[in-house]
Amino acid sequence: MQNYENIFSELAEKIKNLIADSKTMENIIEIKNKYLSKKGEFSLLMGKIKEAEDKKAFGEAFNNAKNKIEEVLNEKVKEFEAKKLEAQLKKEEIDITLPGNNIKRGSENPFYKVRKEIEDIFISMGYTVATGPEVDYDKYVFELLNIPKDHPARDMQDTLYIEDDLLLRSHTSSIQAHVMEEANGKPIKIICPGKTYRRDDDDMTHSHQFAQVEGLVIDKNINLGNLKATLELFAQKMFSKDSKVRFRSSFFPFTEPSVEVDISCFNCHGKGCNVCKGTGWIEILGAGMVHPNVLRMSGYDPEVYSGFAFGIGIERVAMLRYGVDDIRRFYQSDIRFIEEFNKKVED
Ligand code: PHE
Repeated sequence: MQNYENIFSELAEKIKNLIADSKTMENIIEIKNKYLSKKGEFSLLMGKIKEAEDKKAFGEAFNNAKNKIEEVLNEKVKEFEAKKLEAQLKKEEIDITLPGNNIKRGSENPFYKVRKEIEDIFISMGYTVATGPEVDYDKYVFELLNIPKDHPARDMQDTLYIEDDLLLRSHTSSIQAHVMEEANGKPIKIICPGKTYRRDDDDMTHSHQFAQVEGLVIDKNINLGNLKATLELFAQKMFSKDSKVRFRSSFFPFTEPSVEVDISCFNCHGKGCNVCKGTGWIEILGAGMVHPNVLRMSGYDPEVYSGFAFGIGIERVAMLRYGVDDIRRFYQSDIRFIEEFNKKVED
């Protein structure tokens, strides 16, 4: 049998050396193309089979040599792949000794804290929270609340009209009107927090947009004493355990009698200070017994049912509670203000 190995060995050695010396995957591809592809230098040696006597032995010798080159080549490819993986792992390695990124914790606007606190206090007294539309019909904002068209009381709450009959609500009392309509003559015990809008000057204590929490209780035998006890409990939970409540007579078209409600000053406990402007009392809300006309219009017999209602300004409570001097601070999203406040609460 003829020995054909010599025919291939020289070129095979050269190729193996080239593979061994290659530095990159690109080198390997070049070698493959140049020597091992169909028309590559090594593959072309197969052509010499024509001259060979023992074609089978020639073929075997060629295949052996080619297989050995491929083995070396595959080893090298593996080596490169391992190196590549290693480099990638190194790159992605996390250095746990580096300082971390400081993620800034957000702070809740004090307005929302107070709104939630007010809600919680009334929920604990058995109230449910109701909401209603900010853009509402005249009927709900005024008429069902005993403020007919052209009534001078409308001037107290001049607001922003979308259409003749459609406006931004000037108070949350409009939600009362919706809830009474839906309740169909059944007892009610709700609070309604929400935004309200009025044509107003924007200064330290006024804003054209502010928020109220409305309260409404309708049932048999509800009286002014119930209202006072409710508001006193609210003041004690919100401001100070020994808070007292004082009623001064007032006017709202939808309540009769109507009262302006003061709480005893939680800062000086009645002695007089700058928070209560020296009077010992702080005005915080409007309230009263639901007017018989309002009850009647919403399908309640005023001879059988009675009720009380109140409207609390949320910003007003928040300003008192946290000593905020300017109502506009709640709306300006000034991080310094909000953060400062957060510190106060956490301390
Ligand atoms: N709606 C009144 C206002 O916005 C407040 C109020 C509510 C008064 C309920 C009495 C009863 O001024």
